[in-house]
Amino acid sequence: MPVDAATAGYPAHRPRRLRTTAAMRDLVAETRVDTADLIAPLFVRESIDAPIEIESLPGVYQDTVDSLRRRVAGLADLGVKAIMLFGVPTTKDAVGSGAFDPDGIVQVALRQLRADLGDDVVLMADLCVDEYTDHGHCGIVRDDGRSGAYVDNDATIEVYAKAAVAQADAGAHVVAPSGMMDGQVGAIRRALDEHGHAAIPILAYAAKYASGLYGPFRDAVDVEIVGGGDRKGYQQDPRNAREALVEVRADLEQGADMVMVKPALAYLDIIHEVRRHVDVPLAAYHVSGEYSMIKAASANGWIDHDAVATEHLTAIKRAGADLILTYFAGWFAERAAGKDTT
Ligand code: PBG
Repeated sequence: MPVDAATAGYPAHRPRRLRTTAAMRDLVAETRVDTADLIAPLFVRESIDAPIEIESLPGVYQDTVDSLRRRVAGLADLGVKAIMLFGVPTTKDAVGSGAFDPDGIVQVALRQLRADLGDDVVLMADLCVDEYTDHGHCGIVRDDGRSGAYVDNDATIEVYAKAAVAQADAGAHVVAPSGMMDGQVGAIRRALDEHGHAAIPILAYAAKYASGLYGPFRDAVDVEIVGGGDRKGYQQDPRNAREALVEVRADLEQGADMVMVKPALAYLDIIHEVRRHVDVPLAAYHVSGEYSMIKAASANGWIDHDAVATEHLTAIKRAGADLILTYFAGWFAERAAGKDTT
């Protein structure tokens, strides 16, 4: 694009000079999203014999153990070398035993994946009990006599500690507590150390907000909170920003190796602020609702799928995230791989 001759030289600084060609724009781009930054969230469901597509998450599946093995191998071939695994069990109970049972679906899947892939892919396991409890809360529920059910913090972190050991025993490379109980990272760190897993890092879902954007995820894991309850008693209030730093610092003091902000796009200010204060790797979770909004709007022809998906991931990195958990991981990797060959 030629600089207008009539006004050339005025003003002296013309940012458009650096936007004239695609090659020029690529040269000066400040932010790049790389396939190696991405972590694919995946779901493995007990007792099914074929993968089931999740209606509210088009292109995302509840896998069998075998279809999961194929999916992870395929992602690895495309360069996605990290996954976050969630389990969908057939039976649930009050304490979420499936989360720490060595035969629980995630532990079974982890053993297979580790046998298949060794250390080629970083196997992360989401560490929570909501998928495994019959009431759908992220912990042990008590009745406090006032507001109905509430989650007992200290009883819950003992369950998390057991789940961490079970996941590490089964082959997880990283455990990722997502329940937002106070002291969970410290309890998990101690349990891992005591059981010979001192080398297993913790990715803490440190600043996790009580968000409406997790809606499609709850379909993915068949979780419904009993009595129409919510998680506002343990997840963060979306109105609070400084509180995120309190959470992040607490997790780092307790031994978190990496921290996460979740959701991502509606919380770019939090990502930016956490990035300014911590030096450990920072992850952001581009959550189910953020993905589904793009899928739904683009299916209606209202937005351009590829442009908006790329823009979201770029914005999350620009805000300061090093790693992005995203349901777009496979799509992004395929596209990046395609580009490399042209
Ligand atoms: C809790 C957990 C949730 C998500 C990840 N881990 C749901 C919740 O806190 O209610 C949501 C992820 C997403 O929406 O993509 N086990």
